[in-house]
Amino acid sequence: MDLDAAARDILRANDHGGYTVPNGRVYPFQWNWDSAFVALGFDAFDRDRAWREIETLFRAQWDDGFLPHIVFWKDDPGYFPGPSVWDTGKQPVTSGITQPPVAATSIRKLWESAKAAGEGERYRSRLEALFGKLLAWHRWFATYRDFEDRGIVVAMHPWETGRDNSPEWDAPGEPIDISNVGEYVRRDTSNLDSKMRPTKLEYDRYLALVQFGRATGWDHARIAAENPFRVADVGMSMILLRANRDLAALADELEKPADAAEIRQWIDRAERGIGWLWDEELGAWGSRDTLTGRYSGFVTSASFLSFYAGLSDEHRDAAISSHFDRIGSAVEFVMPSLDPDDPGFQMIRYWRGPVWAVVNYMIGTGLAEAGDGARAERVRNDTLELMRRNGFYEAYSPVDGTGSGGDDFSWTAAIWLAWNRSAH
Ligand code: GLC
Repeated sequence: MDLDAAARDILRANDHGGYTVPNGRVYPFQWNWDSAFVALGFDAFDRDRAWREIETLFRAQWDDGFLPHIVFWKDDPGYFPGPSVWDTGKQPVTSGITQPPVAATSIRKLWESAKAAGEGERYRSRLEALFGKLLAWHRWFATYRDFEDRGIVVAMHPWETGRDNSPEWDAPGEPIDISNVGEYVRRDTSNLDSKMRPTKLEYDRYLALVQFGRATGWDHARIAAENPFRVADVGMSMILLRANRDLAALADELEKPADAAEIRQWIDRAERGIGWLWDEELGAWGSRDTLTGRYSGFVTSASFLSFYAGLSDEHRDAAISSHFDRIGSAVEFVMPSLDPDDPGFQMIRYWRGPVWAVVNYMIGTGLAEAGDGARAERVRNDTLELMRRNGFYEAYSPVDGTGSGGDDFSWTAAIWLAWNRSAH
């Protein structure tokens, strides 16, 4: 079977006209960081459509720069929690939380690819327009989500991290009051095996946080000050640092020195402050509860994103690399979303074991850039082999490669295309 063609078919089938749904059955809307990866896939065969994916996403940006995690372009009454639960009052209808800021990094890639194909001039005005929007979103992070000016991103909801039910959110989630959540019917467990999905307790907490945000009228300043869940997420922090480096490069390209200087201040801040997320006892990067200061204590796939963020430190890199090697010999396919030696490891439950192609893409990119060719190749080969054996699933068991979650998944197909491009 021609996997390139199969991957392109998935993107085309999930294309709802300017935006791509992650998977038609489980996720019938536009998701923020999914679109950033999907654009990389489209760029392998349809440049205009790749740019449009991100342009469409930014049509849902709020006036304060905030970019929502879901855009409900067309209603789908079967989905939960839908527009009426979020009740953000925006047009287009959106959720009230954000997601990892991958878009600037993707746009830089699209731009480099357009230039390399001799189409830079054609795309320059589209780059200009998107640059302003990306900058506004990153400013929003600096304004509302930067913990103690450390360049660290505070997540107000597990769904913001994109690693929805990582065990990193268990302890910080405990104080969330779920007594008023009320009755509701989940949609995810009617489409997928509940063994793969979050538990009822986790879901109650998710909804309590949505209700909290809604009660503030989605006032991000109040949420930043009062939300019952405020966790410094290692994944988002590394991704934002990386995205700021890419945005600064675009500012240079567009000859915007004042913007470049503003962005470089955020980068300097993060380089000085992000060490707060280094857990020396664990010898790994991890998330940390800003309300208690407690480390999560977990090695997750996000622990390996420091290379992608452009950080380098001999002692820390060596410690992280030894976790990589230990985990790499324990599982057939890296990088499990949770350390397989952790007692809570479950090979198919969301973000407690399975491998995500998009996270691997970021880990592998970072390792390659850091000059660690061997580990970078391991990540890339494992990821592509999972797809060759099982098709384009949402995620995969690191133990035996079984697909988990939805099939025909857009961002997985996109990573296949993005990662095979250079090989053609
Ligand atoms: C799940 C994932 C999240 C993703 C979404 C759509 O909620 O945890 O990261 O954006 O699905 O694919």
